[in-house]
Amino acid sequence: LAPIVALILAFASASPAQDHPVYLDASQPVEARVEDLLGRMTVEEKIAVIHADTKFSTAPIPRLGIPRRWMSDGPFGVREDIKSDSWRAAEHTDDYSTGMPCGLGLAATWNVELAHDYGQVIGEEARKRGKQIMLGPAINIQRTPLCGRNFEYMGEDPWLTSRMAVGFIQGEQGQGVASCVKHFMANNQELHRGTIDVEMDERTLREIYLPGFRAAVREAGVLSIMGAYNKFRGQHCAENDYLINKVLKGEWGFKGLVMTDWGAAHNTREAAMNGLDLEMGTDKPFDQYYLAAPFLDGIRTGQFGMSLLDDKARRNLRVMFLTHMFDGSAEGGSLNTPEHQATARAVAEEAMVLLKNQGDILPLDAGKIKSLVVIGQNAVRKFEHSGGSSEIKTMYEVTPLEGIVTRVGGSANVNFSMGYAQPVENRPDRPPTATPEMPRTAEISPADMADRAVAAAGQADVAIIVAGLNHSRHMDTEGSDRLDLKLPYGQDDLIQRVASANPRTIVVLISGGAVEMDWLDRVPAVVQAWYPGMEGGNALAGVLFGDVNPSGKLPCTFPRHLMDSPAHALHAYPGVDGVETYTEGLLVGYRWFDAKQIEPLFPFGFGLSYTHFDYSGLKLTGGGNGAGGPVVNVQCDIANRGARDGMEVVQVYVQEANPRLPRPPKELKGFAKVWVRAGEQETVFIPLDLTAFAYYDPDEKGWIAQKDDYTILVGSSSRDVRLRSNWTLPQTTHFN
Ligand code: GLC
Repeated sequence: LAPIVALILAFASASPAQDHPVYLDASQPVEARVEDLLGRMTVEEKIAVIHADTKFSTAPIPRLGIPRRWMSDGPFGVREDIKSDSWRAAEHTDDYSTGMPCGLGLAATWNVELAHDYGQVIGEEARKRGKQIMLGPAINIQRTPLCGRNFEYMGEDPWLTSRMAVGFIQGEQGQGVASCVKHFMANNQELHRGTIDVEMDERTLREIYLPGFRAAVREAGVLSIMGAYNKFRGQHCAENDYLINKVLKGEWGFKGLVMTDWGAAHNTREAAMNGLDLEMGTDKPFDQYYLAAPFLDGIRTGQFGMSLLDDKARRNLRVMFLTHMFDGSAEGGSLNTPEHQATARAVAEEAMVLLKNQGDILPLDAGKIKSLVVIGQNAVRKFEHSGGSSEIKTMYEVTPLEGIVTRVGGSANVNFSMGYAQPVENRPDRPPTATPEMPRTAEISPADMADRAVAAAGQADVAIIVAGLNHSRHMDTEGSDRLDLKLPYGQDDLIQRVASANPRTIVVLISGGAVEMDWLDRVPAVVQAWYPGMEGGNALAGVLFGDVNPSGKLPCTFPRHLMDSPAHALHAYPGVDGVETYTEGLLVGYRWFDAKQIEPLFPFGFGLSYTHFDYSGLKLTGGGNGAGGPVVNVQCDIANRGARDGMEVVQVYVQEANPRLPRPPKELKGFAKVWVRAGEQETVFIPLDLTAFAYYDPDEKGWIAQKDDYTILVGSSSRDVRLRSNWTLPQTTHFN
């Protein structure tokens, strides 16, 4: 009888809370759940949630029902699973995912709604793959065209970067997955990335390199941020008091978690005191991480206050609750769906930038072409499953050749000739074999390969050379920078020769940024395709044969020569004695080319269409005093004067007449992408708030929108201003 009585008494005495604690009650406010759970955790359990227990996870805590928390790269989709404590692939068979176009390609769409869709695809796939934190978007500003990871980032302009990042994060986090915007901050090169100490003045920091992160936090509510490998003003970014404690958490009120880049923690005290909340990838046994046993010891000896650990644990728990880890986070999501593949294709189509189209040779008329030859290793090479941490294992990847054959193979004779190929190191111990990432033509010399392509071009109606770079070292890849802007493997000479053999030669560039084009005058058409993702070949064919009217605009300047670029003209790259001072300051990208009146090969914001747009009817109407709303509404009419429907990216630049401090000649402060049917006209409205006029005043430690006259420039690129008008700010406004 006694045990029964005891059981009855036990049930009778149990408070409702004990058998259903607040933290497990999804109807409770997140903060209440966080505090309830935190209050139940031991010190060891709090330590367990602030450092990794495998390459990409933190430990479960069964006693409290805390599941293992998984994170995954990357910015273009959900990476294949990696082994628990090495960088090798886990070789699972259920970790294929949709491979989106690269980040620079997404930026080239200038389509914020599409960025949202892009992020949503990755968020849906992350949920299906059981990942709570996705390590992207990657948004470092393009400071040098040589940076190996420019293809991952979103170009040279803070406003374009911030708009695309906000869209991406809202789409991804809308699926109950945490984005992790990276790499915070000034990781603008791969060379010496783990040690370089970046110096820059405060205005450059605030006006160029922080805005993308600030928008991610203040507008998109990003739930996590990745501290970069490099140092900033002498402290590693992942353990940086000024960046994390003062700016991110102090000024911006960031409530999410700051994690390291993998192996970017270096010191327990700095990690503990300077705002690091989650340590990943350290080259130590997991329990010996800087924020593991050494930190625990510091707590126990009183070197570090418990409140320090509580804040770190609290931020991790907050993100856990916001990613539904206690409410069925494993449910939902979808993977490799036709809808996701359609989004990948739509992004690739809108990313493509038509750089040249002499004599309107494009679009090609599939009904008239009887024969065409596709040339180049990049026409048959696959890119998605390489490039570093942004790699994706995709179910398929449509190459340019496959896309073209699918589109016109039924009506035209499509041939292929390699033309050029990346040399394969001949190792007696390991005979080179062709792979999807490196298709090759054995036993044919480079000269013979080129001769055959030139001959094939001479016999075809049209020749399409798919040129560019790839994800090899010193090209577009993580871990190294490019060494120059040249096309490798003799492509320049090949393009010249093919163009001589066939004047109807189209060049398609697969690359993560600018290349030198000494052959540009010799070819009638050039399309910049970036790394266009798993549907890239179909998207390219759509553009080449007119199913798609190209609408991409360059998110970065294409210089004529590397030395025209600011970081190189000033010899401010790659740094001296481990320190790199951004002496170009605010004059990054087009800001420099404008200030120094240098003619780029192709300017920021440039991109042609198969139709032509006229701009008219510029109206500037007052929006108010700028208290959070627009100060001026920019309105203009866009008329499609051609025979094809198309999209135009209307860009708004602002120029101050009498700046108190030096400012770039003009700066992008608004844009809108608009669809206009052939022969019709649409009106575009682009609001500008106070930030569009403001500069950062380092003495005031705040922003100032100065009472002054401003010129509002409206154009089709940074060098193609179609309309302009003056706007006066009647008063000076100070704000943070
Ligand atoms: C890499 C990259 C970072 C990535 C992380 C995990 O070194 O810098 O972007 O998310 O490590 O793979």
